[in-house]
Amino acid sequence: SDTGYDAWLRYDRLPERQAGVLTGWCRRIVMPEREGLFHTVRRELTAALASLLGIEPVVTDVLDADADAADTTGAGRALVVATAERAAGLGLLAGEEAGALHADGFVIRTVRRGDVRAVLLAGGTARGLLYGAFHFLRLASIGSLNDRALEQLDIADRPRNPLRMINHWDNMDGSIERGYAGKSIFFRDGKFIADKTRVRDYARLLASIGINALTINNVNVHETETKLITDELLPDVAATADIFREYGIRLMLSINFAAPIQAGGLPTADPLDPAVRAWWRERAAAIFRRIPDFGGFLVKADSEFRPGPFTYGRDHADGANMLAEALEPFGGIVIWRCFVYNCLQDWRDRTTDRAKAAYDHFVPLDGRFKDNVLLQIKNGPMDFQVREPVSPLFGGLTRTNQMLELQITQEYTGQQRHLCYLVPQWKEVLDFDTYACGEGTTVARIASGSAFGRETGGIAGVSNIGDDPNWTGHLLAQANLYGFGRLAWNPELSAEDITDEWVRLTFGGDPETVRTIAEMLLDSWRIYENYTAPLGVGWMVNPGHHYGPNVDGYEYSKWGTYHFADCRGIGVDRTVKTGTGFTAQYHKPHSEIYESLEQCPDELLLFFHHVPYTHRLHSGKTVIQHIYDTHFEGAEQARGLVERWSGLKGRIDTGRFLQVLRRLEEQAEHAKEWRDVINTYFWRKSGIPDARGRKIY
Ligand code: GCU
Repeated sequence: SDTGYDAWLRYDRLPERQAGVLTGWCRRIVMPEREGLFHTVRRELTAALASLLGIEPVVTDVLDADADAADTTGAGRALVVATAERAAGLGLLAGEEAGALHADGFVIRTVRRGDVRAVLLAGGTARGLLYGAFHFLRLASIGSLNDRALEQLDIADRPRNPLRMINHWDNMDGSIERGYAGKSIFFRDGKFIADKTRVRDYARLLASIGINALTINNVNVHETETKLITDELLPDVAATADIFREYGIRLMLSINFAAPIQAGGLPTADPLDPAVRAWWRERAAAIFRRIPDFGGFLVKADSEFRPGPFTYGRDHADGANMLAEALEPFGGIVIWRCFVYNCLQDWRDRTTDRAKAAYDHFVPLDGRFKDNVLLQIKNGPMDFQVREPVSPLFGGLTRTNQMLELQITQEYTGQQRHLCYLVPQWKEVLDFDTYACGEGTTVARIASGSAFGRETGGIAGVSNIGDDPNWTGHLLAQANLYGFGRLAWNPELSAEDITDEWVRLTFGGDPETVRTIAEMLLDSWRIYENYTAPLGVGWMVNPGHHYGPNVDGYEYSKWGTYHFADCRGIGVDRTVKTGTGFTAQYHKPHSEIYESLEQCPDELLLFFHHVPYTHRLHSGKTVIQHIYDTHFEGAEQARGLVERWSGLKGRIDTGRFLQVLRRLEEQAEHAKEWRDVINTYFWRKSGIPDARGRKIY
């Protein structure tokens, strides 16, 4: 459709030759198992193949069905879809290989048995099969399954992260905290939306990229949402869980730590109080009675005015373990967020550093959390800025399960009015080597659990979807959701490969179109960075909604987010020697690199150091000239995006072409606003003119 509703699951009819070849293999689908998730796999495969190939595939449950049933081109060929165990039973897979297959993993392989040649799609379990089916369809859609490829398919894959999760910040009134694509698809006017069509379509999209868990409500759990765990609302929660279950996705809930008081009528929520513990145990039992595969709780506690264990003089391990104990008998988990800092800071106080807070709170608790607790850590120590260093909590904790939290929704990165493709940023985070146990202790390996041999771990992304017809407001922001899922599945995939895949699935294979859009996406993060806050300092946004330039918007506030610009210089001194000491939270060599003014990478300079405007960067430019240059350049590049996209006119359906064009035009205008506000501010502060004499106001 030209609304973008189908996102990357368009299944447009393949060119005739390609379709012909694939039809030979796929007209007959052999699928012995049919219940539950298998039914979903079958429905997805048949519908997609019908759409891609223009055929009605025949589904049978025996392999040796009369080959005549197939047409002449496909004689003796089939697509066999089964669990590894079944496939081994059919003699299509070695028993040993079948036994070793990861539950969520799959094999796609061309095999032969007697006269029958088949493409075998085998899954570790039905879930693995679902992921395998979507992978097969992805390959088919992007035209990778030609004659030769089909003769010799041999793919094996499995997810690297046990938990691949989406966090919704949806409220029951239908609003979405930091949502930029319409209203909630789950809730409206304090109730669940009865029509679940949209939820089911969303579940499909998520399953197709390997997502296996989600929370549906905001981490800031307000009054109505506190009741989601009560008998009043549990039936509705269960109905939503039913839909996600069809796609192998477990539902979880964000909970209010003070729920025993607010929903249970108890006088306290003290995690060590026996009545409080009993209340949570009883609630857990009630939830699991209704939703046997319920995932567990996500908790924001003692953070930005949310209640938590501190009220009772307890610590975060006490709080998390109490909930974990309640969920444990049922296999539930607690995901406890580490976004804990003093949000009532006095800007005059130069000793408190928000960047240090998460580490200071949680490292002392390392090793005290139960096995079914995971600590969820934002990628950076501040809050999803366009550029931040990696949170030193990764590498600081070694005896605790961890999850990496990324923000797919573009709160500080253009709010889906600007193009800002975040996969390259996320790749940098995942590839970051913490050196926690020598070289190679990357964030990707810590998050997955493999670095410290932990059973569980994963990646969570804050959702960027809403009820806009194209899900994400900006059509190209769909690529962020897609890329998030692919990276959560396998952090080793390259940004280029993921991008290429997404563009082909979404816009087809025209080389000019693919090249142009892929390049626009891959350039966009840097472009956005160019015209917004410079050199890692962050935060120059309007307070509250966080959109648009406001250099001093947060400078004298209580949130701990300052740049300290004056007439001489700018930046936050976070060194041990003269600053807040934050650099000491990293292992070597990062602690030394960031501490050193000479070695600190340019793009993070102002995050770690306060320098004069005349300080010379590695690039050879002074800080002030860098600010001017990047802002002039960024605004030009934003205009360039409009031109690059305009060149695709006629190659993309008008509906989607115009949607994107409008957003890019708005971005180009707004980038000029950013350019002029930032440049003017620093020209006035520093009194140093632009070496190239361009117009500054
Ligand atoms: C940011 C965001 C809030 C959100 C918070 C969180 O500060 O602006 O809206 O609640 O992060 O992650 O909890």
